[in-house]
Parts: sequence; C-alpha cells; structure tokens
Amino acid sequence: MSTTPITIAVVGFSGRIGVRHTQYVLDNADTDIVALVDPDPTAADVAKKMSPSTPFFTTVGEMLSTLGDEKPQAGIVCVPNNLHVVVAKELVAAGIDILVEKPLCDSIDDGKSLLEDVRKYGVKLLVGHHKRFNHCAMATKKILESRSLGDITAVSALWTGFKPDSYYIVPWRRSKSQGGGVVFNNFVHDIDLLHYFFGPTVRVHAEQSITRRKHEGQDPDDQAEEGLALVLKFASGVVGTFVISDCVASPHNFESAAGDDPGLPQTWYEEGKQEVDVYRIFGTDATLSVPDMTRWSFGDRKKSWESVLTHGKMPVENDGRWPFERRLDHFVRVVRREEEPNCTGEDGLLAVMVCDAVRQALDSESGTVAVPTIQWSSLAYRGRSISPTTQCIAFAPSKEDNVTTDYSPAHTPSMVSCRPSTPFL
Ligand SMILES: NC(=O)c1ccc[n+]([C@@H]2O[C@H](COP(=O)([O-])OP(=O)(O)OC[C@H]3O[C@@H](n4cnc5c(N)ncnc54)[C@H](O)[C@@H]3O)[C@@H](O)[C@H]2O)c1
Repeated sequence: MSTTPITIAVVGFSGRIGVRHTQYVLDNADTDIVALVDPDPTAADVAKKMSPSTPFFTTVGEMLSTLGDEKPQAGIVCVPNNLHVVVAKELVAAGIDILVEKPLCDSIDDGKSLLEDVRKYGVKLLVGHHKRFNHCAMATKKILESRSLGDITAVSALWTGFKPDSYYIVPWRRSKSQGGGVVFNNFVHDIDLLHYFFGPTVRVHAEQSITRRKHEGQDPDDQAEEGLALVLKFASGVVGTFVISDCVASPHNFESAAGDDPGLPQTWYEEGKQEVDVYRIFGTDATLSVPDMTRWSFGDRKKSWESVLTHGKMPVENDGRWPFERRLDHFVRVVRREEEPNCTGEDGLLAVMVCDAVRQALDSESGTVAVPTIQWSSLAYRGRSISPTTQCIAFAPSKEDNVTTDYSPAHTPSMVSCRPSTPFL
C-alpha cells in the first residue's frame, strides 16, 4: 500500500467551494497540491495567500504545457456547472484522475461523452456528492441495509432554506442555462443520496412554487427556479415526495440539519440542540427520521395503529470530520487504485438525468416526466451491466450483492423490478 502523497491540481480553486477543496488538500498528509488553476482576476492573489509556493495557472492547458511530465495525478474540478465537462475532459485526456463537483454535467449527452472519455483514457472519476460521506447518511445506509425498518414503502423529504441575495451576485447561479437553480445545485445532492438509499428514480411529477425573487437584469425566461414540490417513483417501487425551496426561512435542509457544510451553521448549534429532520423513511416495521436518527416502532407490541409507537435514537458513528475530508481520503484511495469510486460517473449522470426530468416536468403541461431511457450498452451502473432494452434504468446486481433480479414481463411493464432474495434496501 503506497504512502507517497498523491499530487493534485484544484481547478476553479478561488471560488466559493474551490477554496475549501484547496484547504482540505493543503491540510491532508496524503495529498500534495501541485497546481492551482483559475482565470478569475483575483485568483493569483488568493493563490499567494493560500499557498504561495504552489504554481498558479489561468487555464488547464497552461498548467499541462508548463508542468509536462510533472503533471498532477489527480484534479479536482470545481468550476461553474456548465464548464464541468469541458474542464474534466481536458484533464482526462491528459490521463489525470478526477473528482468532479456536482452536478456531473449540465446535459446528459455531455455527461455520457465524459464517461466515454473516462473509459477510453482509463482514468478514475469520483463525482462530488459528498453527502454520501456524511455520518448520518452513512448510518442511514447501514440501517437500511440491516432491514431494521422492514420493507421500505415511502420517503418524505425536504430541502428548504434561505439563500441570501449575496449568493445570487454570481451571474451563473441566477441562470438556468448556465447551471443555476435549486434543482441542479441542491436537489441534485439529495436525489443522489436517495438513489444511494433506494436505487434509481424512474418517474417524477413536479409543480413549481411561487417565484419570490427578482434578479435585476436577469432574463425571466432563463431565471433559475427557487422552489418546487415533487412526487418521485423509484425503480424499487418506493414512492417519495420532496418539497424544495431556497427562499423560505427554514432549517429543514440537509446542510443545516446535518452539519454538512462548514460554511453554514448547523441548526442545533444555534437553537439549543433543537434537532430537525429532512427525510422520513417509512418501512413496514419502523420509521426513521434523518438526520436526527429517530426510529419509531411498535417494539414487541402488536403492529397496529391502536398500539403505542415508541421511539429511540439510532447509533451514529462520528469521527468528527467533515464529509469533504472523508471524501478526500476516499479519493486518495481511488487514485491509488485501492478503492473504486463510491459515487461513480454513472451515479452522477443518473442524478443529472433526474434533475433534467424535473426541469422538463416543470415546463410540461402534465408536470409528469419519465426519467428517460439511456443507451446504457456502453456504460455500467456501479460497475454492473445494464440491460439496454429495458424501459428504465435497472439494477443488474453483481454476485457480491447476493441478489436476484426479476426482469420478467410479469412485473410492472414500465419498470424493472428489483425484488431481491436478499433485500437490496
Ligand atoms: N459539494 C457542495 O456542497 C458544493 C457547494 C457549492 C458549490 N458546489 C459546486 O462547485 C462548483 C463551483 O461552485 P461555486 O459556488 O464555488 O462557484 P464560484 O463561481 O464561486 O467558483 C467557480 C470558480 O471557477 C473559476 N473558473 C471559471 N472558469 C474556469 C475555467 N475554465 N478553469 C478554471 N477555473 C474556472 C471561476 O473563476 C471561479 O473562481 C459548482 O459546480 C457548484 O455546483 C458544490
């Protein structure tokens, strides 16, 4: 097992999230920062302050031609959403492993093309859905795998909070076409987490909320959405609802509730340990609310609405580190070929497909859109093959999952069934 630090470039390092990535790379004993890339006029000064000895470049091309054989092993891509693919492709073509911030791409075709390049050049891609590394999310995943909630039937989810005007000073964040909006910037994280818990989404129904903000000079047709209500259907049969808004005074969002982002206060730090939940996961044996990790069940009483439900806290292991730190450790192991990416390119693409379907649903008359079929023939979902003939994305579990999958027509025709013999959820 190698202990030599891996060399990393941070591309878009002087932006809101870029400085955070940079600091974590600087602080990590297993990473050496070898290049900082950003064309912003203030970026050179930021570089000097953060890491004066690290070479600074304004483009990836300049970095590659200057560093030559000394090019980094890995790159973190944290540029605006609509530039992820173009920047990632430059790095991939140079044989550099990448961690790409969410959303993986802003168009499905671009995302597929990036995934093809990743395969072609044999590099590793980790998508930046860091919530998978949140301690409460990790505990939830374990609880679901233990089947302590019984069969999962439904989930009720929230991402509601308030972004100040200062957030919207940056033009791309106000513009749908440039990757702004609560769907591609916030919901995309949560839908990835729900996929991690329940498997892929196959259908969405969306209703837009009243638009409260006015952005001076912003084309109203291109103004990013600020809120919506969703109904979700997962391939596993699980159904869900999701209310989303970044223009309401509410702590019910993953960042506030779970202490997920060091740049944002965790609700209970400020409110005298008043915990809030963002997901309620309903099973035949128990209900779990997350991230307060309260489990409601009948215990050994008769399962009936006439019996008393009692609650208890589920254990959560927390080493006190931020999800970004755990993810960077994982990325190091991915670059060293010790682990496979926990959030693959296919996972990232799937999250984007659902966001895209949500946007389409918002623009459609019926409000309902199936998550489109993708020609998965050249792709893999979590490293497993996907049937290109199915009408939706399906799990084709590997032997290690110890599950069987029934693709027979007896199952819902628009959906591939995931009825595992050993439960998948
Ligand atoms: N994981 C998270 O929690 C999280 C949080 C916030 C943002 N993000 C994602 O991180 C990315 C950046 O978001 P942000 O809010 O920091 O944006 P930002 O606008 O604050 O920063 C983007 C930076 O990229 C630079 N840049 C633009 N074009 C570039 C190019 N061609 N090469 C190199 N640098 C370039 C800009 O100059 C800027 O400094 C987005 O994809 C966003 O969705 C993730």
